[in-house]
Amino acid sequence: MIWLGIETSCDDTSAAVVKDGKEILSNLISSQIDTHKLYGGVVPEIASRKHLEAINPLINEALARAGKEWSDIDAIAVSCGPGLVGSLLVGVSAAKAAAAMLDVPLVGVNHLPAHIYANFLRENPPELPAAALLISGGHTCLAVMEAHGRFRFLGETRDDAVGECYDKSARIMGLPYPGGPEIDRLAKQGNRKAIHFPRPYLNESKYEFSFSGLKTAVLQYVKKNPDFSMPDVCASLQESIADVLARKTMNAAEEFGLKRLLIAGGVACNSRIREKFAKECERRGMELFIPPPILCTDNAAMAACCAHYEYMNGKRSDLSLDASPALPWGID
Ligand code: KG4
Ligand code: ZN
Repeated sequence: MIWLGIETSCDDTSAAVVKDGKEILSNLISSQIDTHKLYGGVVPEIASRKHLEAINPLINEALARAGKEWSDIDAIAVSCGPGLVGSLLVGVSAAKAAAAMLDVPLVGVNHLPAHIYANFLRENPPELPAAALLISGGHTCLAVMEAHGRFRFLGETRDDAVGECYDKSARIMGLPYPGGPEIDRLAKQGNRKAIHFPRPYLNESKYEFSFSGLKTAVLQYVKKNPDFSMPDVCASLQESIADVLARKTMNAAEEFGLKRLLIAGGVACNSRIREKFAKECERRGMELFIPPPILCTDNAAMAACCAHYEYMNGKRSDLSLDASPALPWGID
C-alpha cells in the first residue's frame, strides 16, 4: 500500500511517500528555521504562509523522488493536530484535496503518537508493549504503547517542554535558536558535574515533568556568575535533563514490566540523552529504539507510518477532517 504523508503542524513542511508503513520511498522536509531564527522562535503567521508556498512543489518532488505518479497513491495521511492552527490547516487542506481528487482513503493522525511511529519505519519494527517517550520542542510525554493505536498515557510536562527548556536556556546564554543542538555541541567540552542544577519533579508527581524551573536555575546561575563557563553550564544542564527523563522512564518501564523503549521527537537527537538511555537499557536488558535524527524531528514519513497502522485497525477520516490545534494524546 503506497501512502502519501503530509506534515505541517509547526514550522517544517514535509511530504513523504511510504510503502506499507515501513519503507520510506521519499521523505522531504522543507525547514523554515532560517526565517524563524531571525525572531528567536517560531512566528505562527509566517509559518503558515511558508507552508502555503512550499506544500504543492514539495508533494510533487516527494512523488518524483519516490518514482511514483499521483495514480500510484493508495491513501493519504496527514497530521491534523496538535500544533499551530494556521500551519495545520495547510496540510489538512492539501491532504483533503488530494484524497478527493484521487478518490482514495484519508487518515488524519495525531502528531504525538505519530512521532513514536518513526520507530516503526524499519524492516523489523519493534514488538509491543513498549514504553514510549516523546521529547520535542512542544511536548514531553510518557506513555505505555500497549498495542497499535492503543496508548496508556502516563504523564506530560506541567509547563515547558524539554526542547523549550533547551531553547530558552540557550537564549539566556546568548546562543542562537534552536538552542538544543548548540547546547549539545558545547556540552561535549564541558564538565557535567561542574554545577548541580535541580532534578525537577523527580520525587513528586510520578510521571509528570516540569522544566520551567530549570531554565530559571540557569538564569540565576548565569546572573550570579558573569564569568561562567558556557560548556560547563551546557553539560550540567544537559545532565539534569537526561537524568530526570531517564529515571522517570525507567521507573515506568519497571512498574509496567516493559522490556522495550521507544523514544522520539527532536530532543531525541541529543547525544547525552542517547548515551544515557543506551546505558540504562543495557543494564536492564531492555531493547532501545531511537529513530535516526532525520526521523526524530517533524516529518511526514512518521505520519504515513502511523496512518498505515491505524488504517489497518479500521480508521478512516472523511472530508470533514479539520485541524485540531489542541488535540490531546488521550488515554487511547
Ligand atoms: O520535534 P521537533 O523538531 O519539533 C517539535 O515538534 O517540537 O523538536 C525541536 C526541538 C527544539 O527545541 C530543538 O532545540 C530540539 O528539538 N533539539 C535538540 C537537539 N536537536 C534538536 N535538543 C537537544 N539536543 C539536540 N541535539
Ligand atoms: Zn513534532
